[in-house]
Amino acid sequence: MLHVVDHPLIQVELTALRDRNCPGSAFRQHLRRIASLMVPAVTADFATRPVPCETPLEITTGVAAERSIVLTPVLRAGLGFLDGFFDLLPQASVAHIGLARNEKTLLPESYYLKVPPNLADCEVILLDPMLATGGSAVEALRNLKKAGAKHLRFVCLVAAPEGIQTFQDAMPDVPIFTAAVDRCLNDKGYILPGLGDAGDRLFGTT
Ligand code: URA
Repeated sequence: MLHVVDHPLIQVELTALRDRNCPGSAFRQHLRRIASLMVPAVTADFATRPVPCETPLEITTGVAAERSIVLTPVLRAGLGFLDGFFDLLPQASVAHIGLARNEKTLLPESYYLKVPPNLADCEVILLDPMLATGGSAVEALRNLKKAGAKHLRFVCLVAAPEGIQTFQDAMPDVPIFTAAVDRCLNDKGYILPGLGDAGDRLFGTT
């Protein structure tokens, strides 16, 4: 259930984006292009159904997507993936989820969740560039399942082995798509070699 989307074009973009000197404007563009380049792999097994299609010459059979797609960025770094997914999936709806650390338990908790209706019938794609400890992704998925989501997948840019393990232990039914698996987490929970704080670099809050 772990898919490493390892395309040379993605790896070139990812190298540029990891560079500490990459400015925010370029960071956003690299992330957008990587997101678009990942879409074919992320959606490769989406179901289609046959539909009639009238060309200028005759009637033939085409296909339509079986389920609507709901993109779900985790606030705030997940927003960096959104435009790249929209470029190839313009018909998708968007759910939003916000998570904050509970200062007593130190665990992530959802403070905001807004989803479209009929979530159970949709392909729900959770977006968050960094899979570090895995706590946020698991909490986001718990909330989406509670809201009715049944067809879920998770997309990140860089994953740490520790986060993959935690994720797969808690959510064995949800596939992970990542552009890279990095070495490990440091003692502050940052991914090594990683790219630093994705949200800060996206939104210029370093
Ligand atoms: N979140 C980030 O943005 N970067 C990391 O390295 C870990 C978590």
